[in-house]
Amino acid sequence: MTPDEFFKAQRLHRDGDFAAAVSLLQDILEHTPNHVAAWRLYAGALREVGRPDDAVDADTKGNAVEADHTADVGASLLFHGDLKRGRAFFERAIVLDPDCITAHWLLGDIEGREGRDALALAHYRRCLEIDPTRTGPAYMIAALGEGPVPEHAPSTYVIDFFDWYAEDFDEHLTENLRYTGPLQVAGTLRVTRPDGVGPTIDLGCGTGMAGMAVQGQVGPIIGVDLSTEMLSKAEARGIYAQLIEDDLLSAMQAQPGASADAILAADVFVYIGELAPLFGECRRVLAPGGIFIATFEDALATTETWKLEHSGRYTHALAYLEKIAADAGFSSTESSPIVLRQEYDQPVQSLLVSFERAA
Ligand SMILES: C[S@@+](CC[C@H](N)C(=O)[O-])C[C@H]1O[C@@H](n2cnc3c(N)ncnc32)[C@H](O)[C@@H]1O
Repeated sequence: MTPDEFFKAQRLHRDGDFAAAVSLLQDILEHTPNHVAAWRLYAGALREVGRPDDAVDADTKGNAVEADHTADVGASLLFHGDLKRGRAFFERAIVLDPDCITAHWLLGDIEGREGRDALALAHYRRCLEIDPTRTGPAYMIAALGEGPVPEHAPSTYVIDFFDWYAEDFDEHLTENLRYTGPLQVAGTLRVTRPDGVGPTIDLGCGTGMAGMAVQGQVGPIIGVDLSTEMLSKAEARGIYAQLIEDDLLSAMQAQPGASADAILAADVFVYIGELAPLFGECRRVLAPGGIFIATFEDALATTETWKLEHSGRYTHALAYLEKIAADAGFSSTESSPIVLRQEYDQPVQSLLVSFERAA
């Protein structure tokens, strides 16, 4: 649609040619269904031609589109840490369209962060009512303590979230959240392998920030991730020899034994609780003398193993990581406490851990 067509529809409406306006607006909306002003004008023209029921439908669709735009503005405010104004936009979106799933989803997030679990649960339950096929709400309901705790985040939740987040990910993580994961992993690799390494695997590579950080220290890098949009950002950097769109466990099961000198995992294990099977695969895929370097959010003595937090992220206990590494056959585990990023101006207490396979 060109802007001219919408102006033409406005002229037809102003001149009283409502039947022609209806027909042109139908065409416009078929091609640009997110045009709020076109829905409003269409509803008005439908009323004029004596189709009040269709006019009500058009207004409802216009409200739904406007609610989505309003929720997107709220999401942007939330990303920048402005919960108060974000909340106002989500509440406005729900007034426009009680089924605006983005607004319910992000209000659930705000209520959960502010400790109002009952309200957060109500929003997540509403998301499930609106779209029972979404896996995110059930996952967050479990994170808030209702029902069985899953061992990892559902793949479709991870894909939906990171496909949506990919465009703003780098800027948001580095500028707003002061995220240090890739630099921490690269620093440990530099210190432990000062002469560099050969083939390397980047687990949950996302947009490729860890790949960038280790450039020059590693041979060919394979990146693995579930999100198409994150992978397309990684591909655009031109630094990965191969990018695999798959779950980490199945991607690692498909790698030949003893084929990598290093495996890196920056801020991905917050989406996986039970890590023993993946650790077994990492040990198998590492060549003798290889190193596996990963970050974790620290469970800080609240569990002996792993825990799904109210935030929807998994934390891990160091003792658990040491145990599953030893069970998998790693010869040593070294760890240091780090701050991986900020969350609402609070440091996220984390762990930087390296696991070695004996030479
Ligand atoms: C917080 S981002 C970190 C990205 C990157 N490592 C970095 O440091 O910038 C987490 C990434 O892990 C991916 N991810 C989460 N769970 C996964 C899984 N089970 N299998 C593959 N990728 C996964 C997400 O799609 C996302 O791109």
